[in-house]
Amino acid sequence: MKKSLIVPILFLCFTPFSSIFGQEGSPFENPQNLQVLPKDISPDQLRGIMRNFAFALGVRCTHCHDSKQDEDGFSMVFETETKETKRIAREMLKMTGGINRDIAALNRGADHKYTRVMCTTCHRGQENPFLIQTVLDNEIEKADASTALNKYSELKDKYYGGHTYDFSGFTLSEYANSLINKGKIDDALEIALYSQTANPNTAYAHTIVGNIYMEKKQYPEAIEAFESSLTLDPDQNGVKHRVEQAKAALAE
Ligand code: HEC
Ligand code: HEC
Repeated sequence: MKKSLIVPILFLCFTPFSSIFGQEGSPFENPQNLQVLPKDISPDQLRGIMRNFAFALGVRCTHCHDSKQDEDGFSMVFETETKETKRIAREMLKMTGGINRDIAALNRGADHKYTRVMCTTCHRGQENPFLIQTVLDNEIEKADASTALNKYSELKDKYYGGHTYDFSGFTLSEYANSLINKGKIDDALEIALYSQTANPNTAYAHTIVGNIYMEKKQYPEAIEAFESSLTLDPDQNGVKHRVEQAKAALAE
């Protein structure tokens, strides 16, 4: 094992490999155990694909590959098969290839430039490609809406501005709305009120609060929320109609 292989993992993963390994020492020369990628793939291509894997999943090389510590120090072992994640990544590689073949088979004509599905299309920087809705569902199932909202704000602090989660008011309020259909009215209200406070300029965030108050037959609160929505965006016939409905219910 060459001394130049003794480098911290972080370095190994985020600096140009040529500068670490030199020509003959590069792990991308003469791969021993490729089962999905073409065996004659160029070292540059293999390096590019592996870096993409790591960035797409927000992980380091060691997430899928083994490392060892011996008298020569720390080194990576890429050809081994011990990690479950490597096995799954190989299946994911086949699956992604299959999706792209299916898409190309749509035969949209010679001029059509196909959008290729890549690891990051689904993963967006995380190991398990959850949507924010999935995260909230899981938290509500485990505990309640307050726990889910704590998790939401924790994730927002960490990921806001990136592509991993959608923190828009529309999505959070739409999620609250989806809880109505599951009969979880109180959880729906708690999340909708949070979204309304966090996104005061999103008309939809007010509309959903109104919808939930309608479900709860709290008509004055519903009217107030619908009117806030209409102040932001007056051109909503559906919301105007709901105000009429709420007023009629109050008059009864
Ligand atoms: C998400 C899992 C995953 C991550 C992260 C990952 N790899 Fe891989 N790597 C694989 C899989 C799967 C193969 C085998 C592909 C095949 O069978 O065609 C592979 C193969 C390799 C090979 C060829 C090994 C051989 O001899 O057969 C090298 C070298 C390699 N990876 C380096 C890296 C480096 C360096 C990184 C970090 C930048 C990295 N990999 C990150 C999954 C991963
Ligand atoms: C069509 C969407 C999609 C694409 C494209 C995709 N994945 Fe995945 N991947 C998933 C889903 C969904 C899961 C979670 C599966 C589960 O719940 O067990 C997953 C799980 C994984 C896991 C296991 C994560 C863990 O720790 O549990 C690995 C590793 C992985 N994908 C690697 C890749 C790589 C590498 C690529 C690109 C070659 C890729 N995926 C492309 C959807 C996708």
